[in-house]
Amino acid sequence: MTTDLTISSLHAREVLDCRGLPTVQVDLTIDHGRLLGRADVPSGRSTGSHEAFESRDGGRRFGGFGVGQAVAAVNDVLAPALVGRSVTSQRALDAMLVDIDGTQDKSRLGANALLGVSLAAARAAALSSGRPLYQHLNADAHVLPVPLVNLINGGRHASNDLDFQEFIILPVGASSMLEALQISTEVNLELAGILLARYGKVALNTGDEGGFAPPISSPDEALTLLHEAVDKSGWADSIRYGLDCAATHWYDEARGTYTLAGEELDRDALIDRYLRLIADYDLVTIEDPLQEEDFEGFARLTATSGIQIVGDDLFTTNADRLRRGIAEGAANSLLWKVNQIGTLSQAWDAAMLAQSNGYSVVVSERSGETEDAIIADLVVALGAGQIKTGAPVRGERTAKYNRLLVIEEELGAEATYPGDVFRSRVG
Ligand code: PGA
Ligand code: ZN
Repeated sequence: MTTDLTISSLHAREVLDCRGLPTVQVDLTIDHGRLLGRADVPSGRSTGSHEAFESRDGGRRFGGFGVGQAVAAVNDVLAPALVGRSVTSQRALDAMLVDIDGTQDKSRLGANALLGVSLAAARAAALSSGRPLYQHLNADAHVLPVPLVNLINGGRHASNDLDFQEFIILPVGASSMLEALQISTEVNLELAGILLARYGKVALNTGDEGGFAPPISSPDEALTLLHEAVDKSGWADSIRYGLDCAATHWYDEARGTYTLAGEELDRDALIDRYLRLIADYDLVTIEDPLQEEDFEGFARLTATSGIQIVGDDLFTTNADRLRRGIAEGAANSLLWKVNQIGTLSQAWDAAMLAQSNGYSVVVSERSGETEDAIIADLVVALGAGQIKTGAPVRGERTAKYNRLLVIEEELGAEATYPGDVFRSRVG
């Protein structure tokens, strides 16, 4: 019996994310209801201004964070239009979603409504092919990602005074995903011991992505703590370091300056600070070192640093903004978040544009996640070679790591862990 690839039903509901805030979950069935694709939509807290529009209800319900309107957009607008359509072409389906919404930033129905449908359709189509999603999207997929493991949280993700949002280790010396997680966990355990001894148990509180949120403000102190933990773990030769500075969120637009650990810096002074941090702490990647409109500053740091400079708020997974970055030499890496643009096909195109221009792609979680692990399949499908999905703790983070472990086992001898060539992955 052949599978009927037309959509038989489409239904959205509100579910809770890891912060306890509502988000959209979409159920899409094909084949007369026999195959169910389900997807949850993630949500950011330190968002870029050029992200697609996330619909929130406002009002008193759920403190204003309800997504009842986005759910209604799926159930009352998208479902009547899409039931009976095929999931065979993700591109055609996504084009329909964009068309029905009819706005540039998806503000009529909400990117959270559109993305839930887009991802649920991809899952249903994969089921019909009898293959796991990563293989359905790319028959040759075999590259596991090096995880950018966020062990110390600051910025909008933590209740401490660190301005930088993420202090990251990259277990590049591992030989597999499993070993990468073993190394990361061993470092995290050492870090816990050091924090407890130095600052007391308050330092073991964690931030939104599961990393520790110690009561410190100096980025040097945070990076020193990571180095100490790594040294104690015995894995120093296997680990490199990274940052997500999320600089837009500590930039003062009126003054045109940044305030880092209480010190006011202009752009050039901040760039000099980064060059020193890179040299002192073996940093190999920095995300959003400058505010989201400063393409020129990004280009300057990219040229002078020689390391991976990642655009998150800078690009917002938007091919137009990425094109500008490529033309100006701003950054050399795209942070890839499907919900920043709102459909799988548009995000996919941004990744292809990046890779074909020598930019690496870092597939990323949002700080607001559910147990849906779809980005694990997507990072392998893209062959991106890098994933950012938080500390190796808490269910919404470990769901992604655990899915990667399953994929690694499924791929068997084909599985490739890129290690220290993580930047050169081009699909
Ligand atoms: P967000 O942060 O999901 O809260 O936007 C993640 C990031 O900045 O990379
Ligand atoms: Zn970021």
